[in-house]
Amino acid sequence: MLLLALALPAVLFPGGDTQDDFQGPTTFHVNQITSFANSTWAQYQGSGWLGDLQLQRWDSGSETAVFLKSWSKGNLSDEVISGLDVLFQVYFIGFISEVQELASEFEVEYPFEIQGIAGCELHSGDATLSFLKGALGGLDFLTITNHSCLPAPEGGTRAQMFCIFISQYKAICDIIDKLLIEICPQYLLSILEAGKTDLQKQVKPEAWLSQGPSPGPGCLQLVCHVSGFHPKPVWVMWMRAEQEQPETQRGDILPNADDTWYLQVTLDVAAEEAAGLSCRVKHSSLGGQDIVLHWGQPMSIGWIILAIILPCLMVLVCFAVWLFRRWSYENIL
Ligand SMILES: *[C@@H]1O[C@H](CO)[C@@H](O)[C@H](O)[C@H]1NC(C)=O
Ligand SMILES: *[C@@H]1O[C@H](CO)[C@@H](O)[C@H](O)[C@H]1NC(C)=O
Ligand SMILES: *[C@@H]1O[C@H](CO)[C@@H](O)[C@H](O)[C@H]1NC(C)=O
Repeated sequence: MLLLALALPAVLFPGGDTQDDFQGPTTFHVNQITSFANSTWAQYQGSGWLGDLQLQRWDSGSETAVFLKSWSKGNLSDEVISGLDVLFQVYFIGFISEVQELASEFEVEYPFEIQGIAGCELHSGDATLSFLKGALGGLDFLTITNHSCLPAPEGGTRAQMFCIFISQYKAICDIIDKLLIEICPQYLLSILEAGKTDLQKQVKPEAWLSQGPSPGPGCLQLVCHVSGFHPKPVWVMWMRAEQEQPETQRGDILPNADDTWYLQVTLDVAAEEAAGLSCRVKHSSLGGQDIVLHWGQPMSIGWIILAIILPCLMVLVCFAVWLFRRWSYENIL
């Protein structure tokens, strides 16, 4: 029953948009993480992803896949989806009990974690590539492609034994093939079409500057935040005039909750060298009009002071007016 149902994937499409122009994701994959605490206790998580975008999560309460986007069913009928739900239910239960049984045979010590990823990728023309990989304790264990199981070097003899073991289960291998080579590519093509508007949307970033924790005496960390953009590719650089600053450090591009992205780019400089630096942002949504933010310490402090003092002043004025009114009212009485 093993690594079986890991797969639901997809393939990309020829014709229509040419692939050279298509900037979006070209891969669909399913993830599975299973933690085995001891010989009787295990828990698992499953999810489906189009590139970086999560489309499904497995709900272990109802034992069904939850579709997270209006278009994430693609052209799968409800019937096919219920069929896949049942397949995954059987798979998860079978996977856990099979691994628990094999753990002693393969001398795997509790606790341990198994990760699996399976899916398909669109290549140029009609070609699609399917993949299935398993990891044990965070190390590659095996890859299954094209009917054959390849043990990973990190998996040692255990992985070799396991590949021999799994190859006896022809029926399981056939199901994997069907899911990966047939269903996945069709599904991938259909969600790329169904989700086109979302996937190809252009959303402009917002950018702002702040000061990070001081990297050392007399030094400043300049932070350029870029948020809310889509698609993911973005170029952000600290500049002095037209000169890129090679010490610029780029963080990971992180997801916002609304399917846009966030990036933080920092530069450590001596305090006296901060003036004249700017952060430049290039993104496809900006149509060549880069965002440029200049580091201006005195001005930003000025703005902060203004932002604090102004509201305080207004409150004071209101209070004074109120006191004055009250006083005149009492005097009149
Ligand atoms: C197995 O692990 C679970 C979760 O950590 C724990 O609650 C349970 O008591 C353990 N059972 C045995 C037999 O050790
Ligand atoms: C997969 O197997 C088929 C036939 O067995 C072969 O033609 C093809 O080249 C193989 N693909 C890869 C990526 O190994
Ligand atoms: C779903 O779409 C894919 C790609 O467009 C197509 O190959 C497949 O036949 C479709 N499946 C159904 C059930 O309509």
